[in-house]
Amino acid sequence: MADRQGTAAPQRVLALGATSAIAQATLRLLAETHASFFLVGRNAEKLAAVRDDLLTRGASAVTAYVADLDDTAAHPAMLAQAASVLGGIDVAFLAHGVLGDQPAAEMDYATAEAILHTNFLSAVSLVTWLANYFETERRGTIAVVSSVAGDRGRKSNYVYGASKGGLNIFLDGVRNRIDRAGVQVLTIKPGFVATPMTAHLKKNALFAEPAKVGKDIVRAIEKGKDVVYTPHFWGLIMLVVLSVPRRIFKRMNM
Ligand SMILES: NC(=O)c1ccc[n+]([C@@H]2O[C@H](COP(=O)([O-])OP(=O)(O)OC[C@H]3O[C@@H](n4cnc5c(N)ncnc54)[C@H](OP(=O)(O)O)[C@@H]3O)[C@@H](O)[C@H]2O)c1
Repeated sequence: MADRQGTAAPQRVLALGATSAIAQATLRLLAETHASFFLVGRNAEKLAAVRDDLLTRGASAVTAYVADLDDTAAHPAMLAQAASVLGGIDVAFLAHGVLGDQPAAEMDYATAEAILHTNFLSAVSLVTWLANYFETERRGTIAVVSSVAGDRGRKSNYVYGASKGGLNIFLDGVRNRIDRAGVQVLTIKPGFVATPMTAHLKKNALFAEPAKVGKDIVRAIEKGKDVVYTPHFWGLIMLVVLSVPRRIFKRMNM
């Protein structure tokens, strides 16, 4: 793994969307290895709670930075501040995102655009800066939470799916560009996870807990992976979903 002291654990972690349930589960594991953190979230109260939690779990230092990540113009200054406060970044972890209102997005472009802006364009802005930062450093990890929803367009959530699918392609390209500089670009594809984002959905056996997803993310970072499905059985499910012919898929209620 791209770690500055050759140990298994990353030490200086930038977390964007740090209040997300998946982020919190992941950061807790990193805190146990005494990592230091620069946390970014838009809700100051929730962010302070995450900071306190990480400190009690072993984090060596935690800085909380309040920002709405939709404001892409503010990204370069924020990221430069993170690098300066941490004394360098080893792992940049992007976890912010919105599910959005698919029926509303079908009727109204502004709603669709807002989903694409938060999930795709803001991530493009952040990863553009981070890729150049790590390429210059010739090390580091960019880990981004995407979704299995980005693997195939479904009628029930294709705007969210498109935002994640675009993200997957973008990350593929960035990886192919900077892999030879020793930088890991990890695309994380969770299936259903029981978090505030899915609180309104009826739970079934396919739902995973954030702690399981966090564990898979940390392991994928440590192993230097390119893509991780979490839980892993989603890799198999998506293989089947992708193999369904288009003429049949368009008649299915998915
Ligand atoms: N849950 C699932 O089933 C599932 C499956 C696949 C992928 N994912 C992805 O996993 C990631 C984390 O989601 P989650 O499941 O952990 O849900 P979550 O707890 O609702 O987290 C979403 C996070 O995104 C933050 N956020 C949204 N817009 C933002 C903005 N403009 N600026 C800053 N922060 C913003 C939210 O901040 P606030 O707390 O302030 O609202 C929240 O912390 C997302 O990218 C999501 O698409 C989730």
